[in-house]
Amino acid sequence: MRILVIHGPNLNLLGEREPEIYGSFSLDDINKKLKKIAKENKIEITIIQSNHEGDIVDVIGNARDITDAIIINPAAYTHTSIAIRDAILASQVPTLEVHLSNIYAREDFRSTSLIAPVAVGQISGFGSESYTLAMYAALNLKGKRRGKK
Ligand code: DQA
Repeated sequence: MRILVIHGPNLNLLGEREPEIYGSFSLDDINKKLKKIAKENKIEITIIQSNHEGDIVDVIGNARDITDAIIINPAAYTHTSIAIRDAILASQVPTLEVHLSNIYAREDFRSTSLIAPVAVGQISGFGSESYTLAMYAALNLKGKRRGKK
């Protein structure tokens, strides 16, 4: 099984960026945890971070035939990016949406996710555990293509 993890814009600044909201751990700390889970479960994991919408669209497009599940924190693009939403739909790869903070308990504009309707599910508000919960959910998706229109 192969899992692709995509961290969106500004997540490279975790630990320094609004730690009261996002926590004091770094992106590297999260990635280490994810790699450990992958190793324990004998699955391949690829992790990328990008601040650029088009790059994220390319990565999702290239994942089409080689990835069993995508775990994505689209960060601010969650609320704006039809391009990332369309890329997920086109790829047909089961996708799990992740957020460190509870996006429904913050500013109103964060309550709209353009990604959620095309994701298998969303995990939001558990800090770095949102990613580990998504990993365990993704492990159960092997071989399943997304069933939505
Ligand atoms: C975020 C929530 C988004 O609203 C925000 O733009 C982020 C991070 C989260 O993980 O809580 O950059 O996706």
